[in-house]
Amino acid sequence: MIVCVCRRVSDRQIREAAAEGAVSLECLQFELGVATQCGRCADCASRILCDARSSSASNMPMVRMHVAEQGA
Ligand code: FES
Repeated sequence: MIVCVCRRVSDRQIREAAAEGAVSLECLQFELGVATQCGRCADCASRILCDARSSSASNMPMVRMHVAEQGA
């Protein structure tokens, strides 16, 4: 889906940018040019970025802590 009509930026591109480390709308503006013309896409782009970042965080493998058994 096209998010930014002015710069023809898709939600997929925003998700890819998030996966590559984009953490803010400013990052997306720098990397993709999203929301740099009329600005109408700024809220939608921010929501997609936030969703992508929270999704990737929930997919991170859990760190398991092993507690050594104490001798009986
Ligand atoms: S729709 Fe994104 S800057 Fe206009």
